[in-house]
Amino acid sequence: MRAVKIFDTTLRDGEQAPGCSMNISEKIEVAKRLEKLGVDIIEAGFPVSSPGDFESVKKIASVIKTCVVTSLCRCLEKDINVGWEALKKAESPRIHVFLATSPVHMEYKLKMTQEQVLEQAVNCVKYAKKFNSDVEFSAEDAFRSDPDFVCKVFSAVIKAGALTVNFPDTLGYAMPEEFGKSIRYIKENTAGIEKVFLSVHCHNDLGLAAANSISAILNGADQVECTINGIGERAGNASLEEIVMGLKVRRDYFNVETKIDTTQIYSVSRLVSQVTGIKLQPNKAIVGDNAFAHEAGIHQHGVLSNRETYEIMTPQAIGIPKSKLDSSSNLVLGKHSGRHAFEERLKELNINLDEKTFEKVFGDFKKLTDKKKTVSLRDIEALVMNETTSVPEIWKLDFWELKTSSSAGASGVIRLRRDGEIYEESICGGDGPLDSIFRTINKITGKEPELELYELGAITDITGADKNGVEGSSSQGETMVKIALNDKYGCLRRWNGRGVSTDVIESSMKAYLAAINVMFYEIEGR
Ligand code: KIV
Ligand code: ZN
Repeated sequence: MRAVKIFDTTLRDGEQAPGCSMNISEKIEVAKRLEKLGVDIIEAGFPVSSPGDFESVKKIASVIKTCVVTSLCRCLEKDINVGWEALKKAESPRIHVFLATSPVHMEYKLKMTQEQVLEQAVNCVKYAKKFNSDVEFSAEDAFRSDPDFVCKVFSAVIKAGALTVNFPDTLGYAMPEEFGKSIRYIKENTAGIEKVFLSVHCHNDLGLAAANSISAILNGADQVECTINGIGERAGNASLEEIVMGLKVRRDYFNVETKIDTTQIYSVSRLVSQVTGIKLQPNKAIVGDNAFAHEAGIHQHGVLSNRETYEIMTPQAIGIPKSKLDSSSNLVLGKHSGRHAFEERLKELNINLDEKTFEKVFGDFKKLTDKKKTVSLRDIEALVMNETTSVPEIWKLDFWELKTSSSAGASGVIRLRRDGEIYEESICGGDGPLDSIFRTINKITGKEPELELYELGAITDITGADKNGVEGSSSQGETMVKIALNDKYGCLRRWNGRGVSTDVIESSMKAYLAAINVMFYEIEGR
């Protein structure tokens, strides 16, 4: 069976899409889960783009052991210097350089001729080779480029030492059959291509990114670049789970394998959705909420007799927890559940925690059982997220009080703590209670970010009961906010925050403060 490499760019092309930003702890957690998933290459970021990206690539390079870690660089010495500085401690580093080859990009973006592009591509691959043997070259907008020019550039960069050449459909313009033909053409007309890996990188503007990637594999591509949940610029990138499950379910047709442990797919997908705040459409292939739901009576009847009547893969194959599938076995936990039961639930969610983090999360779980009679898998996921993906709590919520009425508006007090000192402000003014709270937090912290998104949902997927056993009264509120502010370079930056509490006002405050803390951490370093 032919092996195809999975190059995951969730943390670079995915993260760079508007609204998909992640903080450094979130990126590290995602990288660790991608390693467990079994991807071959993790593209960890674009280090020259910001100090935050540099730091996260550096950290990911130091913690990931079994995957190649790569960082993106333009074909510029400065980018390669910074990219290598971030990567150099990685067990298996790769420098990924790119330069556009399409007429429109060369004329209007680069203002360069074909000859200049060819020369710069070769020079930068040679320059990157001085640092590292594993170098990948991408011809940005390759699909809309003159195929003979791409072959010429690929032949030259292979001669200069590139070990992987990547053919992106940057604009998601290709149709599967013609994309496959392009790949065949490249394979047949590029000198030295048999000695290196040919990669593809497809965007989803016409909804064909996974189909194009698979067509490329059929025509000889050795590597596909993709993201979890298909997140990415505009309509996104090719979705990892769609490509991998396509190859697995139709192994009879493709005779191709990947190293992915598909039972990890569901948990990584959930994590990426939670940290980015990008919810999946319910009918999203493979990982959407309805991907394995059978509503129509005739379908239910068929599935009950034999699952294969209406299912081409099992939910277990992608790691959907048993208790999520079967509400009668949704074994929730409660006050008297011990460590063992808690560990079992973590296992079901495919979550491994080191001892110290386990103790913290278990402590949080015990506290939660004082407020809620039943704790579901979703609650446990939220507790784990809180401990594993947050940055240092620079501003801590110490106390709050809020009164609100239709006639008098909101009033009360918020008390925050920073470095052991207390900061207190009265709540007043504002357009409704949440606006008043956020304004008061701004007043205390001295920063006035724009609130770009506020979302409130219930975290518990089965009806929760409070500590007195009253059903339906104690789902945890989960709030997601996105804030934006110009940094000192005048660059608009965005940060996400999540907050979970049995009180929705508190979950909103926690989410806002979480985003404020990431902002302080990334802008001021503390
Ligand atoms: O879409 C694209 O062309 C890219 C390259 C930088 C690989 O993301
Ligand atoms: Zn891309």
